[in-house]
Order: sequence, then C-alpha cells, then structure tokens
Amino acid sequence: MKRREVTFGGLLALLAIGSAGSVIGSALPAPDLERGRLVYETNCAICHGLDGNGRGMARHHFETPPADFRTGKFKFRSTPSGSLPLDADLFRTITQGVGRTGMIPQVHLDEADRRDVVAYIKTLSPRFGREEPQPPIPIPSTPDRTPEFMARGRALYFDAGCADCHGEGGKGDGPSARELTDDWGNPIRPADLTRLPRKSGPKPEDLYRTIGTGLDGTPMPSHADALTPEEIWALVAYLWGLPPKSEWANLGTLVDEEIVGFNVEKRHRQPLPPRGSPGPGAPAGSRKR
Ligand code: HEC
Ligand code: HEC
Repeated sequence: MKRREVTFGGLLALLAIGSAGSVIGSALPAPDLERGRLVYETNCAICHGLDGNGRGMARHHFETPPADFRTGKFKFRSTPSGSLPLDADLFRTITQGVGRTGMIPQVHLDEADRRDVVAYIKTLSPRFGREEPQPPIPIPSTPDRTPEFMARGRALYFDAGCADCHGEGGKGDGPSARELTDDWGNPIRPADLTRLPRKSGPKPEDLYRTIGTGLDGTPMPSHADALTPEEIWALVAYLWGLPPKSEWANLGTLVDEEIVGFNVEKRHRQPLPPRGSPGPGAPAGSRKR
C-alpha cells in the first residue's frame, strides 16, 4: 500500500489490529510496585530524575524537557483538563512514546513491566493518593471526512483561535506563539501541525482527544466546553490534511530529529534483571546501584 493511500478510516483499522492485546484489561494482577521502582530506576530516571523531577542527568540532550511527575499534571490524558490521567493513559504514553521527543516508545519493556512502572510513577506525586481521575471525555465516532467537513474545520481553525498560536498554515508560528512557557517555566512552542509523528499519537482520535482535553501544564487549552463534538471532528478532519505526503513517511519510525537523544538513552540504559530475581533488598554486590 502506498502511504498516501492511507485514509482516515483505513489507518484506524490498521492501528486497531496493531494495538489489539496491548490494552489494560480489568482482570490483570495487581501491579508490583517494587518491580515498578526497579523498572523506573533502570529505564526512566536517567531522563525523568530519581524522584521524578524531570531533571535526570540526560535531560540536557533534549529540546523538550522530560516530564516532571511530582505535580501530577499530565499532558496526555483522556480525562478532562485539570484531572489526573487514567492508568491506561500513562500506559499508552509509555508504550507509544511521545512523537519527535526523547520519549521513545518503551516497548523494550514487557507489558507487565510497563504496568508496574505506571503504578510506580503514580507514587511520585501526592495527588494520586488523594484524588481520583475524572471519567474520560466521550469521543463519538468519526464522521466522514468530506471536502465540506474539512472546509468547516478550516474555518473553525481560525474562528476558535487555533491560528493565533499555531499560525495560519499550522506551522506553530502564530502571533501568540512567542514567549510561551509551560507550567514549569520552560519555553514552549505551539506544535507544528504540519509535522508527523504527532506527540499524542497517530490516530484521528488522538487529535480529537488533544483538542478536547488540552495538554495540561502547557498553553494548549481544552476546547471541550467551547466546541461541540462535531466541531472538534471538523477540526480533526482539517488537521489531518495538513502534513505533506513526505511527513507520512515519518510515522512508525523511531529515528527522528532527537536521534542523538535516542542513542544516549540506549547507552545509559541499565539491563533489567528478570522478574523474580533478587531486587533492591538483595545482598550487597548482587545489584548495581
Ligand atoms: C531519553 C529520555 C527519556 C526516557 C529514558 C524516558 N522518558 Fe518519558 N519523557 C521524556 C520526555 C522528553 C518527555 C516529554 C515529552 C513532551 O512533553 O512532549 C517524556 C514524557 C513522558 C510521559 C508523559 C507525561 C505527560 O505529560 O503526559 C510519561 C508518562 C513518561 N515520559 C514516562 C516515562 C517512563 C515510565 C519511562 C521509563 C520506562 C520514561 N518515560 C523514559 C524523556 C524520556
Ligand atoms: C495559547 C496558544 C494555543 C492555542 C490557542 C491553541 N494551541 Fe494547540 N498547542 C499549543 C502548544 C503550546 C502546544 C504544544 C504543547 C506541547 O508540545 O507540549 C499545542 C499542541 C497542539 C496539538 C498537539 C500536537 C501533537 O504533536 O500531538 C494539537 C493537535 C493542537 N495543539 C491543536 C490545536 C487546535 C486545533 C487549536 C484550536 C482549537 C489549538 N491547538 C489552540 C498552543 C495553543
């Protein structure tokens, strides 16, 4: 199949096949926190910091700073703005990574290890101990991506203020794009919507979710109250057509502009002992710290 023939619905079907079996079910064993800590210390702390402050020793290699887990604010959620994420959201981010950043898909970890590390990163913020995540925003099924629907999306892109930040052509260069910062004081730019892969994932639903929930801790606002579901879908239909054909070739590749970071990450990653082998409290010498 030629890439440019990948359609809205067609890609959805492909991805549905690809992701089958990697969803968090309800009948799974309780997560192993101790194992999660080990996974974190050997695979994540290098960037996210031992205590989750986002200031691991490799952080300097990345234009986009690693997430700070201590505040419990997460960009990539299915839940409304301001809410904690679901476990499934964290699992999804860890599994698919964050496109075009140092956060590569952590698929070198098996599913159980990814679930355990989800449980562990939740211990890094006190919010998880006192709050429950809100229910995810509903995502109704995709309407047909007709030329009229896309044109409506284009009009909304300007009417809803997206162009102010993301720019007329979607390149992230709108008049309000300058001097934006995230909640941690780092400079941040509106996404270049003509580039792929996107941070929140490759599916139309991922775009819908981003627009609906916003990206907490960044200037990207939630539009769930300002726009109807149909309007959000119209925007998605418009945004879907923005990346030129050459960008579709980037989907599914790990190699990106932060390839240096990727190599650094590989070099520093410590091997994870097999499950059930001596962990932290083990006799001296059995585990490198
Ligand atoms: C090579 C550096 C690196 C490593 C290793 C790494 N991350 Fe990340 N991670 C990042 C960066 C950079 C981001 C920020 C992406 C962004 O905000 O656009 C991020 C973002 C995240 C997010 C999204 C936070 C949000 O706001 O929704 C989660 C969750 C996450 N990482 C978990 C992990 C876990 C768990 C591991 C280990 C299994 C890990 N990361 C390993 C660099 C890394
Ligand atoms: C106040 C400025 C601002 C406005 C208004 C705004 N955005 Fe954003 N948007 C951002 C920033 C900043 C980011 C990047 C966040 C990040 O990288 O962590 C972003 C990210 C995104 C992403 C994520 C892209 C990816 O890689 O996953 C999408 C999609 C998006 N915006 C669409 C929209 C749409 C559609 C609108 C209008 C309904 C809109 N934005 C309005 C600032 C804005």
